[in-house]
Amino acid sequence: MKPAHIAIIMDGNGRWARARGLPRTAGHRAGVEALRRTVRAAGEMGVEWLTVYAFSSENWSRPKAEVSDLMGLLRLFIRRDLAELHQNGVRVRVIGSREGLEPDIAALLVEAESLTAQNTNMNLIVAFNYGARDEILRAAQALAADALAGRCDPALITQEDFEARLDTAGMPEPDLIIRTSGEQRLSNFLLWQAAYAEFVFLHCNWPDFSEDDLAAAIRVFEERERRFGSVAQQEAVS
Ligand code: FPP
Repeated sequence: MKPAHIAIIMDGNGRWARARGLPRTAGHRAGVEALRRTVRAAGEMGVEWLTVYAFSSENWSRPKAEVSDLMGLLRLFIRRDLAELHQNGVRVRVIGSREGLEPDIAALLVEAESLTAQNTNMNLIVAFNYGARDEILRAAQALAADALAGRCDPALITQEDFEARLDTAGMPEPDLIIRTSGEQRLSNFLLWQAAYAEFVFLHCNWPDFSEDDLAAAIRVFEERERRFGSVAQQEAVS
């Protein structure tokens, strides 16, 4: 079966640039082009949910100029691509903490979400200023506040109660997580939601990620057998 939800860790922009003797910012620019191509390709392939890791809560520790360049690229991406995304019926949502973001960026995120809120062709989730531990901690704080106020009994808290307080409330879990650039780790991305995701690690750097790579990753996913902690189907009957 096709993955309904694909999440991507877009890694390797810096290495792509270095290999060409270019500054890291050129890698991020090429990364935005790859993101555009991927959203289009995913839509054409009928992927319903696409989540991309655009900026992690740990990325603030990069040199100031690089952080400012990434912020500029997000501004540009929303300003340039929002109309096309909206035209194509893409619903945009942003996960991550909004605290400490520059006011114009926070406003652009709200604009992208509200303009596209009624769209139903495809969902694009942008993880921006996102860290899974931070997300989980904020959900735990919300539940603790509810318990303290007497709105819930701590002993009766369910997984669904917890999920309802994550940034991804109401969204399906990722079926397939793709990471480019040869690294094989999750880097604080969707830790709760990835419990039963399949992983595909690709060697290409993100700016080189193509429609063919996406199709190939989907084929690998389709060959995997997902058991969700149970046994294989033919063994269940024997
Ligand atoms: C990883 O490459 C990529 C990022 C930290 C950011 C991903 C960002 C984009 C694809 C473009 C920006 C898009 C938006 C919408 C903000 P790296 O710099 O870690 O590469 P390296 O590991 O080779 O140094």
